[in-house]
Amino acid sequence: MDRVFVTRQMPPTGLEMLREACEVVVWEDDLPPPQDVLMQEAAQSDGLLSLLTDKVDAALMEQAPRLRVISNYAVGYDNIDIPAATERGIPVGHTPGVLTESCADHAFALLLAAARRISEAERYVRAGKWQTWHPTLLLGQDVHNATLGIAGFGRIGQAVARRATGFGMRIIYTGGSSAGDVATELGAEQVDMETLLRESDFISLHTPLNADTTHLINAEALQMMKKTAILINTARGKVVDSTALYAALKAGDIAYAALDVTDPEPITMDDPLLTLDNCLIVPHIASASYATRDRIGQIAAANLLAGLKGEPMLHCVNPQVQGK
Ligand code: GLV
Repeated sequence: MDRVFVTRQMPPTGLEMLREACEVVVWEDDLPPPQDVLMQEAAQSDGLLSLLTDKVDAALMEQAPRLRVISNYAVGYDNIDIPAATERGIPVGHTPGVLTESCADHAFALLLAAARRISEAERYVRAGKWQTWHPTLLLGQDVHNATLGIAGFGRIGQAVARRATGFGMRIIYTGGSSAGDVATELGAEQVDMETLLRESDFISLHTPLNADTTHLINAEALQMMKKTAILINTARGKVVDSTALYAALKAGDIAYAALDVTDPEPITMDDPLLTLDNCLIVPHIASASYATRDRIGQIAAANLLAGLKGEPMLHCVNPQVQGK
């Protein structure tokens, strides 16, 4: 019977699917397994079900000749060395599609919360500062009729755009080479990055993290943005240069940031971003609805089981190795 190592407890449906077919070892702590433990467990396993917090690198694979499949419980896979897996003929699964709508809901929640300063307002009430109604209390930005710039027009970026049409927003985007029909349907206009930075009232990031997108939002990009601009990051922390972001928020070069993801994760408690009122930070929860996290588990389990049987996965990052 194949042995699989699952690096954290996860919603039950996916785990049950695995237990029906395999010997399943689950890491029970909420914190990730230390790297040496992850490596030892991987070395004794045929399949690895990893989270985005697990570093699945060439050194791990080198010590795990038995390992035939890796399945990531996430759509992003920047925690896995894909060339190293491909070189070893190991298929890597991920979970696109099932989390698109929940992530778009969350990006829009952050957009609205930043525009209307919801977390600041809530802190204000709890601190006992609410004494009267005042014409200039906690003023924010209008979302309706504003320009939304979407950097990365894949599934999630498009789903955010669909929500924005309900607010009468003008939508511009970068990337999404095969998104022409959807863009036409939504009235979205493809632009270059500089235009997106200069013209957007809200910029929402939806790129994967790779060499091209690391620090896509750096000091220069922040300087190009409007002073009233609001930046929303539900992609990966490293897509934004957080030192430059702090400086821009502090100096008023942009108005606000809403971050679901940070660099590093978790954010350290001495990170200066935490001192700013105009920065809203939540702990990487864009896909965190009950239903979606369960579906992610089912897809991750199905990918792992398919890989163990030598069958095509539902979603494989390196399909060229499948069936070899
Ligand atoms: C979450 O960040 C994911 O990649 O699924």
